[in-house]
Amino acid sequence: MQLNEQVVAITGGARGLGFAMAKHLGAQGARLALLDMSGEALDEAVSSLSAAGIEAQAFVTNVADEASVQQSFADIAKRMGAVSGCVNNAGITDDSLLVKAKEGVVEKRMSLSSWQRVLDVNLTGVFLCGREAVTQMIEAGQPGVIVNISSISRAGNMGQSNYAAAKAGVHALTVTWGKELARYGIRTGTVAPGFIETDMTASMRPDMLERIASSVPLKQLGQPEHIARSVAFIFENDYFTARIIECDGGLRL
Ligand SMILES: NC(=O)c1ccc[n+]([C@@H]2O[C@H](COP(=O)([O-])OP(=O)(O)OC[C@H]3O[C@@H](n4cnc5c(N)ncnc54)[C@H](O)[C@@H]3O)[C@@H](O)[C@H]2O)c1
Repeated sequence: MQLNEQVVAITGGARGLGFAMAKHLGAQGARLALLDMSGEALDEAVSSLSAAGIEAQAFVTNVADEASVQQSFADIAKRMGAVSGCVNNAGITDDSLLVKAKEGVVEKRMSLSSWQRVLDVNLTGVFLCGREAVTQMIEAGQPGVIVNISSISRAGNMGQSNYAAAKAGVHALTVTWGKELARYGIRTGTVAPGFIETDMTASMRPDMLERIASSVPLKQLGQPEHIARSVAFIFENDYFTARIIECDGGLRL
């Protein structure tokens, strides 16, 4: 797909990986609809993109809330036209071990609310936004691309029962939708980042980050731009669907 003049929605587009994707796809001519919880961060992102000559509009959205997602996609169609791309990037972490025991006694367990919160944003959010985007593409009679952002953690990771399960589910949606939607000219793809320098990783302990960086075969954390380029590849390559790009410096075992 040529991105020029195409309307592309990016969830969690106000900062981090989503904002890097907005800059990269916008530089190729895409018109961007940024969906995020934070109105203030959205306004900053939109003005920084506008200063670079990129068309972007802000849509305050909670991707985990059906009514909010439906309203935002209706507003996008009204203000910008139907979307032909959607990057499901918004995500959160809320890490803890399933159980923590001392001397045979379980002292701490992952709470149901922590499990549910991460599943709601990271998996249900992808379902809701993907469903809205695809409906617009089909009803506008135009082809489209859905990119879902998973993670290296989808293979299973200590302390991340909720996040790993959601991120494995995200790729299952990519494969399912790739098969179901090819008949409408809609392609899908997953990008699974390793450890990338954003606010999400900045919240980790510096010594832990250093340990991770030294265990990456390429010996460094990734940059948001690396992930943006992987996303752009899925848009550009018309024979790519239902598959995954792992962009992690070679870290996954
Ligand atoms: N940074 C990494 O190393 C890394 C690695 C693997 C996967 N990922 C994935 O990449 C994506 C982006 O991560 P990031 O590092 O840029 O994170 P980030 O925390 O820097 O940014 C996430 C954005 O999503 C928004 N958001 C959160 N909950 C939302 C909701 N309910 N509705 C709408 N917007 C919401 C936040 O406001 C924020 O702007 C996430 O899905 C994350 O799981 C990141």
